[in-house]
Amino acid sequence: MADPIALVVLVSGRGSNLHAIAEAIDAGACHARIAAVISDRGPDRCEALSWATGRGITTATVPPKAHADRTAWDAALAEEVAAHAPGLVVLAGFMKIVGPAFLQRFGGRTLNVHPSLLPAFPGLRAPEQAIAAGVRISGCTVHLVDAGVDTGPILAQAAVPVRPDDDAARLHARIQRHEHRLLPRVVHWLGTGELSLERGIAPEADGVLYSPSV
Ligand code: GRF
Repeated sequence: MADPIALVVLVSGRGSNLHAIAEAIDAGACHARIAAVISDRGPDRCEALSWATGRGITTATVPPKAHADRTAWDAALAEEVAAHAPGLVVLAGFMKIVGPAFLQRFGGRTLNVHPSLLPAFPGLRAPEQAIAAGVRISGCTVHLVDAGVDTGPILAQAAVPVRPDDDAARLHARIQRHEHRLLPRVVHWLGTGELSLERGIAPEADGVLYSPSV
């Protein structure tokens, strides 16, 4: 089998998806290695980054404020990511929109995980949007990142029920349990070549829905 695929994981917050990837790798269920974890926020404002440092993972911070404008920040982010030579970039709760310089280098091999069944409820507070819309089924989506907000080609989705007594936090927690299974699995499939972005063919498993849309 090929060497584990090198990941750069971009984070801004808690990092439960980062933990899930690391746990799956440790369990031998995800054929990847985490080359670096990069944030737009320092470790004092990003739990995921301090967690990664604590585990001895290489980390870096690329804060927008340290750069003249968005274009300069985007170029700096692309440079920092490139320094770790990733096969795949994973946006796991990264709260910034990546720009043209980043996409020129890493478009087509950058994944995002989003807490809704896209194209429904893109952007912020997706679980809250789902509850407000009254839908009875929501879920999570792993997709390729393009220049839009949560608009790139869908790779995989998992569905969860929206219960009548749900609030946004409870629904988000239920969705996240599926994110934590789906994201490492998609990374694994890309790492092993079972899921090919060219062919768009994904294995089937466990009632999770995998889209051959790419
Ligand atoms: C996840 O729900 C993900 O779908 C969204 O941001 C959240 C990040 O959570 N993009 P965590 O930081 O991985 O816990």
